[in-house]
Amino acid sequence: MTVSTHKGPQPKAGILDIHAYVPGKSGTKAGKVHKLSSNESAVGASPKAVAAFAAVGPELALYPDGGALPLRQAIAARYGLKPENIVCGAGSDELLQLLAHAYLNAGDEAIYSQFGFLVYPIVISANDATAVIASEHHHVADVGEILSRVTAKTKMVFLANPNNPTGTYLTAAEIKRLHRGLPAHVLLVLDAAYAEFVMSNDYEAGAALVEAHDNVVMTRTFSKIHGLAALRLGWAYCPPAVADVLNRIRGPFNVSLPAMKAGIAAIEDTSFIEMALAHNTKWLQWLTAEIEKLGLKVTPSVGNFLLIHFPSAEQARACDAYLSDKGIVLRRVDAYGLPQALRLSVGDKEANQAFVQALRDFLK
Ligand SMILES: Cc1ncc(COP(=O)(O)O)c(C=O)c1O
Repeated sequence: MTVSTHKGPQPKAGILDIHAYVPGKSGTKAGKVHKLSSNESAVGASPKAVAAFAAVGPELALYPDGGALPLRQAIAARYGLKPENIVCGAGSDELLQLLAHAYLNAGDEAIYSQFGFLVYPIVISANDATAVIASEHHHVADVGEILSRVTAKTKMVFLANPNNPTGTYLTAAEIKRLHRGLPAHVLLVLDAAYAEFVMSNDYEAGAALVEAHDNVVMTRTFSKIHGLAALRLGWAYCPPAVADVLNRIRGPFNVSLPAMKAGIAAIEDTSFIEMALAHNTKWLQWLTAEIEKLGLKVTPSVGNFLLIHFPSAEQARACDAYLSDKGIVLRRVDAYGLPQALRLSVGDKEANQAFVQALRDFLK
């Protein structure tokens, strides 16, 4: 365990062993930059959400509704959920932190899958618990592997479905099998940040499972299809007892008024959401086909991003540098144990075409 050598205040045990999350680069080049490194929206936010955000100026001196009730009602209406079982947060990241904080004691274990979202080991370790890794097969989470890692100390399972950075998902039947295999006291966190992009009929984000059991939580975000990443807005759908716990420990005003107003407008703008989905579906297929034509392997993705595999880590690194130089910023995924791969977010038409042209030039 790393111990601080300076004489000032000391953090809790284990904190200095945590590798801080490294966000996608923004690009340093002067001129036009295509930022395809953080799975943000390719089509921006709904103009109605932007207008709602802009209209709150006169209200900035006042605290927002601490329970984010109008937003929870809008989310509940959109998806047919119970508003009292929704808890909103400053991004789904905050909700993942709160869940780990509330349910993990020092020495507990929490499981995540091999190429799972890297926030999970951070929030697990930050609570002095042990992050247990379950192997994946072909970059897909494996229910049998996750269940085989359960011990008497297991308290939580974190699963991104679909997963970032792989873009793969587990079917509703597989998620049910996972849940059935878990002891009742283990909390299953289904992180469905990319749920809105999934076109497969055998996928479910998890709301029905949440309503049927008291040990499943689903987290969602406004950062992806709704294009509001800058505002930091997410929500969790919880069993009543879990919602009660999160409401006890969250900041009293953890969702800002601009975020709330923009979030309500975004979730109600169904035609914008349909347009964003159609854009993603079209360009995800196009990018996959074009990259494969160039001889590279792509993990089949249901998200708004693709994992591209190069023959070697050196080539992946060289390609990343080449693209960056052209103002096209992808995500290195070495920290995920994938040094031979790069992650590409679906961009607008110009960005997607510029990327494929630059990749073609690089591979020549
Ligand atoms: C799987 C997954 N979960 C959660 C998040 C965090 O989203 P938010 O912006 O809501 O904190 C991300 C963001 O990239 C993600 O990929």
